[in-house]
Amino acid sequence: MEYPTGSPLSVEQRGTALILTLNRPDRVNALSRDLIEALGKAARTAASDASVRALVVTGAGTKAFCAGADLKERQSLTKDQVREIVRLYRTEFGALDRSPKPVIAAINGVALGGGLELALMCDLRTASTGAVLGLPETGLAIIPGAGGTQKLPRVIGEARAKEMILLGRRLTAEEALAFGLVNHVAPAGSNLIDDTLAWIEPILKGAPIAQAAALDAIDRGLDSELAAGMELEITAYERTLESADRDEALRAFAQKRPPKYEGR
Ligand code: COA
Repeated sequence: MEYPTGSPLSVEQRGTALILTLNRPDRVNALSRDLIEALGKAARTAASDASVRALVVTGAGTKAFCAGADLKERQSLTKDQVREIVRLYRTEFGALDRSPKPVIAAINGVALGGGLELALMCDLRTASTGAVLGLPETGLAIIPGAGGTQKLPRVIGEARAKEMILLGRRLTAEEALAFGLVNHVAPAGSNLIDDTLAWIEPILKGAPIAQAAALDAIDRGLDSELAAGMELEITAYERTLESADRDEALRAFAQKRPPKYEGR
């Protein structure tokens, strides 16, 4: 599989995890057009890479996960060019959002604006103790334009989302944990990626077809009424029932050994 390398996005496979590192440390990993496109390309390639079970998105260095839109690049853009970038978020971040493989944001520092919106496209979020999360856009006289107004209330609820967006409130990692915005905070002094990979071990060793079916049922169900969601679940369940991994699970249980899943 051909992944982008170096700057603006570096890609490294560790075991069955594919680590995507936003690699513009001199620009606090801000989202340039090239970086947004590289993220989309990597997500699409990973979707059909059988050696990858999960994607981990993180930032280079210890200061920033991603400081959002590249405000220096933006100064030189026309309004139409900005409109085009906002549309690009839909397609490229969308590739992560719709990934059939679990995507985890490992938030290693500030995640502001589009940086937090990128993390919101992920299924799970871990953070280092120094992480800071916020959507400061209304303070810049714009609104979040990469899904923030839609994703944040779904993750943390309407009142808390309005608090973060209208007050521009920046949360510490512990506050984000209490809000349910991050799922797990790595212990102080630990390496965030090592800790995240250990935390997601059940995913890395798990049954890919079941994980994809669960993500599909949850994500599409959230867009549906309950009765329609219950039907979606039946269809998603059916995909697991026909898988070889499901037979392996029952065999392993009977033989009192850990299952070995192959994604078939
Ligand atoms: N786009 C492009 N460059 C950015 C940037 C962004 N979003 N945010 C920061 N930078 C640049 C700074 O201009 C500075 O560059 P310089 O050294 O050439 O002046 C460099 O990154 C370091 O930033 P600095 O502010 O000096 O570091 P800091 O540690 O004090 O603060 C941040 C880091 C990210 C907390 C702070 O820069 C910030 O709040 N940035 C704005 C983030 C934002 O509002 N994003 C939402 C956009 S919609």
